[in-house]
Amino acid sequence: MTNNNNYLVANWKMYGSLKDLKSIKKVIKISKKGKYKNIKIIYCPPYTLINSLSKLLKKTALKVGAQNCHYNEYSGSYTGSISPNMIKSVGAKYVIVGHSENRESGESNSTINKKIVSALNQKLKVIFCIGETLSEKKKSKTNFVLKKQIYEGLKNIKKLDNLIFAYEPVWCIGTGVIPKTSDLKNNLIKIQKILKYKFKLKNPIILYGGSVSSKNVAELNKISEIKGFLIGSASQNTNKFIDIIKKSII
Ligand code: PGA
Repeated sequence: MTNNNNYLVANWKMYGSLKDLKSIKKVIKISKKGKYKNIKIIYCPPYTLINSLSKLLKKTALKVGAQNCHYNEYSGSYTGSISPNMIKSVGAKYVIVGHSENRESGESNSTINKKIVSALNQKLKVIFCIGETLSEKKKSKTNFVLKKQIYEGLKNIKKLDNLIFAYEPVWCIGTGVIPKTSDLKNNLIKIQKILKYKFKLKNPIILYGGSVSSKNVAELNKISEIKGFLIGSASQNTNKFIDIIKKSII
Protein backbone atom coordinates (compact mmCIF):
# COMPACT_ATOMS: atom_id res chain seq x y z
CA MET A 1 0.00 0.00 0.00
CA THR A 2 1.25 3.46 -0.72
CA ASN A 3 0.94 6.21 1.80
CA ASN A 4 -0.14 9.69 0.85
CA ASN A 5 3.36 10.92 0.03
CA ASN A 6 2.93 10.53 -3.64
CA TYR A 7 4.95 13.25 -5.36
CA LEU A 8 8.64 12.86 -6.01
CA VAL A 9 10.07 15.86 -7.82
CA ALA A 10 13.63 15.55 -9.07
CA ASN A 11 15.33 18.94 -9.24
CA TRP A 12 18.52 18.39 -11.23
CA LYS A 13 19.60 22.03 -10.83
CA MET A 14 22.49 22.94 -13.16
CA TYR A 15 23.57 19.33 -13.61
CA GLY A 16 23.05 16.76 -16.32
CA SER A 17 23.70 16.23 -19.98
CA LEU A 18 21.99 14.25 -22.75
CA LYS A 19 23.88 11.08 -21.87
CA ASP A 20 22.52 11.20 -18.31
CA LEU A 21 18.97 10.73 -19.58
CA LYS A 22 19.62 7.08 -20.39
CA SER A 23 19.69 6.04 -16.76
CA ILE A 24 16.12 7.32 -16.34
CA LYS A 25 14.98 4.21 -18.19
CA LYS A 26 15.58 2.32 -14.94
CA VAL A 27 13.16 4.68 -13.18
CA ILE A 28 10.58 4.21 -15.94
CA LYS A 29 10.80 0.46 -15.44
CA ILE A 30 10.31 0.69 -11.68
CA SER A 31 7.46 3.16 -11.99
CA LYS A 32 5.45 0.57 -13.90
CA LYS A 33 5.51 -1.91 -11.02
CA GLY A 34 2.20 -2.09 -9.17
CA LYS A 35 3.26 -0.71 -5.82
CA TYR A 36 4.97 2.31 -7.34
CA LYS A 37 2.18 3.25 -9.69
CA ASN A 38 0.68 5.85 -7.35
CA ILE A 39 3.88 7.86 -7.10
CA LYS A 40 3.90 10.91 -9.31
CA ILE A 41 7.46 11.29 -10.53
CA ILE A 42 8.35 14.65 -12.05
CA TYR A 43 11.77 15.32 -13.52
CA CYS A 44 12.96 18.92 -13.61
CA PRO A 45 16.19 18.89 -15.61
CA PRO A 46 17.96 21.97 -17.00
CA TYR A 47 16.12 23.66 -19.89
CA THR A 48 18.54 22.06 -22.38
CA LEU A 49 17.18 18.57 -21.61
CA ILE A 50 13.45 19.22 -21.42
CA ASN A 51 12.73 18.42 -25.05
CA SER A 52 14.67 15.15 -25.14
CA LEU A 53 13.40 14.03 -21.77
CA SER A 54 9.79 14.76 -22.75
CA LYS A 55 10.25 12.48 -25.75
CA LEU A 56 11.78 9.74 -23.60
CA LEU A 57 8.91 9.94 -21.10
CA LYS A 58 6.16 10.34 -23.66
CA LYS A 59 4.42 7.00 -23.17
CA THR A 60 5.12 6.80 -19.45
CA ALA A 61 3.45 8.19 -16.34
CA LEU A 62 6.53 10.28 -15.54
CA LYS A 63 6.32 14.00 -16.22
CA VAL A 64 8.78 16.76 -17.03
CA GLY A 65 9.02 20.18 -15.45
CA ALA A 66 11.26 23.22 -15.74
CA GLN A 67 13.22 24.67 -12.83
CA ASN A 68 12.15 28.25 -13.47
CA CYS A 69 10.55 30.47 -16.09
CA HIS A 70 10.31 34.12 -17.04
CA TYR A 71 7.29 36.13 -15.91
CA ASN A 72 6.45 37.03 -19.49
CA GLU A 73 4.11 34.34 -20.73
CA TYR A 74 5.23 34.21 -24.35
CA SER A 75 8.27 36.08 -25.65
CA GLY A 76 10.17 39.35 -25.41
CA SER A 77 13.56 40.99 -25.26
CA TYR A 78 14.78 39.14 -22.19
CA THR A 79 18.22 37.80 -22.99
CA GLY A 80 18.87 34.38 -21.53
CA SER A 81 15.30 33.82 -20.34
CA ILE A 82 12.73 31.15 -21.16
CA SER A 83 8.97 31.73 -21.05
CA PRO A 84 6.24 29.41 -19.75
CA ASN A 85 4.93 29.06 -23.30
CA MET A 86 8.36 27.95 -24.49
CA ILE A 87 8.82 25.29 -21.85
CA LYS A 88 5.31 24.05 -22.46
CA SER A 89 5.99 23.81 -26.19
CA VAL A 90 8.78 21.29 -25.57
CA GLY A 91 6.69 19.07 -23.33
CA ALA A 92 7.02 20.41 -19.79
CA LYS A 93 3.90 20.06 -17.68
CA TYR A 94 5.29 21.55 -14.48
CA VAL A 95 7.50 24.44 -13.47
CA ILE A 96 9.28 25.19 -10.20
CA VAL A 97 8.86 28.83 -9.17
CA GLY A 98 10.37 30.70 -6.24
CA HIS A 99 13.25 28.34 -5.53
CA SER A 100 15.51 29.85 -2.88
CA GLU A 101 18.50 29.64 -5.22
CA ASN A 102 16.65 32.12 -7.45
CA ARG A 103 15.32 34.19 -4.55
CA GLU A 104 18.96 34.53 -3.41
CA SER A 105 19.86 36.16 -6.70
CA GLY A 106 17.21 38.81 -6.24
CA GLU A 107 13.91 37.26 -7.25
CA SER A 108 11.19 39.07 -5.29
CA ASN A 109 7.80 37.83 -4.14
CA SER A 110 6.16 40.09 -6.69
CA THR A 111 8.23 38.66 -9.58
CA ILE A 112 7.38 35.19 -8.32
CA ASN A 113 3.72 36.17 -8.32
CA LYS A 114 3.95 37.25 -11.96
CA LYS A 115 5.71 34.03 -12.90
CA ILE A 116 3.01 31.95 -11.22
CA VAL A 117 0.27 33.86 -13.04
CA SER A 118 1.95 33.37 -16.44
CA ALA A 119 2.73 29.71 -15.84
CA LEU A 120 -0.84 28.99 -14.74
CA ASN A 121 -2.15 30.84 -17.82
CA GLN A 122 -0.08 28.41 -19.87
CA LYS A 123 -1.75 25.52 -18.06
CA LEU A 124 1.48 24.48 -16.40
CA LYS A 125 1.33 23.08 -12.90
CA VAL A 126 3.38 25.26 -10.59
CA ILE A 127 5.59 23.96 -7.80
CA PHE A 128 5.76 27.06 -5.63
CA CYS A 129 8.73 27.06 -3.22
CA ILE A 130 8.74 28.85 0.10
CA GLY A 131 11.07 28.69 3.07
CA GLU A 132 12.95 30.71 5.66
CA THR A 133 16.70 31.31 5.76
CA LEU A 134 18.80 30.39 8.78
CA SER A 135 19.06 34.00 9.93
CA GLU A 136 15.28 34.44 9.64
CA LYS A 137 14.80 31.26 11.68
CA LYS A 138 17.26 32.46 14.31
CA LYS A 139 15.37 35.73 14.60
CA SER A 140 12.10 33.77 15.02
CA LYS A 141 10.80 35.22 11.78
CA THR A 142 9.80 31.93 10.13
CA ASN A 143 6.04 32.44 10.43
CA PHE A 144 6.26 35.98 9.20
CA VAL A 145 8.42 35.03 6.20
CA LEU A 146 6.32 32.05 5.16
CA LYS A 147 3.12 34.07 5.42
CA LYS A 148 4.59 36.93 3.38
CA GLN A 149 5.91 34.58 0.69
CA ILE A 150 2.52 32.89 0.39
CA TYR A 151 0.39 36.08 0.46
CA GLU A 152 2.58 38.00 -1.97
CA GLY A 153 3.28 35.01 -4.20
CA LEU A 154 -0.42 34.21 -4.57
CA LYS A 155 -1.67 37.80 -4.77
CA ASN A 156 -4.76 38.14 -6.99
CA ILE A 157 -4.62 34.50 -8.09
CA LYS A 158 -8.12 33.10 -7.89
CA LYS A 159 -7.72 29.56 -9.16
CA LEU A 160 -5.16 27.66 -7.16
CA ASP A 161 -5.93 24.10 -8.29
CA ASN A 162 -2.78 23.75 -10.35
CA LEU A 163 -0.46 24.75 -7.56
CA ILE A 164 1.72 22.46 -5.51
CA PHE A 165 3.61 23.97 -2.60
CA ALA A 166 7.12 23.04 -1.58
CA TYR A 167 8.28 23.98 1.90
CA GLU A 168 12.05 24.16 1.68
CA PRO A 169 13.79 25.67 4.69
CA VAL A 170 16.77 27.34 3.01
CA TRP A 171 19.15 26.16 5.74
CA CYS A 172 18.29 22.55 4.85
CA ILE A 173 19.02 22.79 1.13
CA GLY A 174 22.24 21.02 0.22
CA THR A 175 23.40 20.95 3.83
CA GLY A 176 22.53 17.40 4.87
CA VAL A 177 20.42 18.88 7.67
CA ILE A 178 16.66 18.40 8.03
CA PRO A 179 14.39 20.14 10.55
CA LYS A 180 13.33 18.58 13.82
CA THR A 181 10.16 16.58 13.17
CA SER A 182 8.12 18.70 15.58
CA ASP A 183 9.28 21.98 13.99
CA LEU A 184 8.66 20.66 10.51
CA LYS A 185 5.19 19.47 11.43
CA ASN A 186 4.35 22.80 13.05
CA ASN A 187 5.46 24.79 10.04
CA LEU A 188 3.59 22.52 7.65
CA ILE A 189 0.43 22.87 9.72
CA LYS A 190 0.78 26.65 9.64
CA ILE A 191 1.21 26.65 5.87
CA GLN A 192 -1.74 24.30 5.52
CA LYS A 193 -3.93 26.57 7.65
CA ILE A 194 -3.10 29.66 5.59
CA LEU A 195 -3.86 27.82 2.37
CA LYS A 196 -7.06 26.29 3.70
CA TYR A 197 -8.55 29.23 5.53
CA LYS A 198 -7.19 32.27 3.72
CA PHE A 199 -6.93 30.85 0.23
CA LYS A 200 -9.81 28.37 0.46
CA LEU A 201 -7.81 25.44 -0.83
CA LYS A 202 -9.54 22.28 0.37
CA ASN A 203 -6.61 19.90 0.12
CA PRO A 204 -3.39 21.79 -0.44
CA ILE A 205 -0.53 19.62 -1.67
CA ILE A 206 2.59 20.49 0.30
CA LEU A 207 5.93 18.86 -0.43
CA TYR A 208 9.02 18.99 1.72
CA GLY A 209 12.42 19.78 0.24
CA GLY A 210 15.92 20.10 1.67
CA SER A 211 18.49 17.29 1.99
CA VAL A 212 15.98 14.51 1.34
CA SER A 213 17.86 11.24 0.92
CA SER A 214 17.28 7.51 1.09
CA LYS A 215 18.48 7.72 4.69
CA ASN A 216 15.82 10.13 5.94
CA VAL A 217 12.91 9.69 3.53
CA ALA A 218 11.24 6.91 5.53
CA GLU A 219 11.33 9.06 8.67
CA LEU A 220 10.03 12.12 6.82
CA ASN A 221 7.30 9.96 5.33
CA LYS A 222 5.79 9.52 8.77
CA ILE A 223 4.81 13.18 8.80
CA SER A 224 1.28 13.03 7.47
CA GLU A 225 1.22 16.68 6.32
CA ILE A 226 3.93 15.94 3.72
CA LYS A 227 2.51 14.88 0.36
CA GLY A 228 5.83 14.28 -1.33
CA PHE A 229 9.35 15.57 -1.76
CA LEU A 230 11.36 18.01 -3.83
CA ILE A 231 14.73 16.36 -4.13
CA GLY A 232 17.91 18.02 -5.31
CA SER A 233 21.26 16.27 -5.18
CA ALA A 234 19.91 12.79 -4.35
CA SER A 235 17.79 12.90 -7.50
CA GLN A 236 20.72 13.57 -9.79
CA ASN A 237 22.06 10.06 -9.26
CA THR A 238 19.56 7.51 -10.59
CA ASN A 239 20.50 4.75 -8.15
CA LYS A 240 20.06 7.08 -5.19
CA PHE A 241 16.78 8.31 -6.61
CA ILE A 242 15.54 4.74 -7.05
CA ASP A 243 16.41 4.07 -3.40
CA ILE A 244 14.23 7.03 -2.44
CA ILE A 245 11.39 5.78 -4.65
CA LYS A 246 11.57 2.38 -2.94
CA LYS A 247 11.67 3.88 0.53
CA SER A 248 8.81 6.25 -0.12
CA ILE A 249 6.41 3.32 0.00
CA ILE A 250 5.24 2.02 3.33
P1 PGA B 1 18.80 19.20 -1.92
O1 PGA B 1 18.04 20.33 -2.75
O2 PGA B 1 17.92 17.98 -1.92
O3 PGA B 1 20.08 18.98 -2.63
O4 PGA B 1 18.99 19.73 -0.53
C1 PGA B 1 16.67 20.51 -2.68
C2 PGA B 1 16.23 21.66 -3.55
O5 PGA B 1 17.03 22.59 -3.73
O6 PGA B 1 15.14 21.66 -4.09
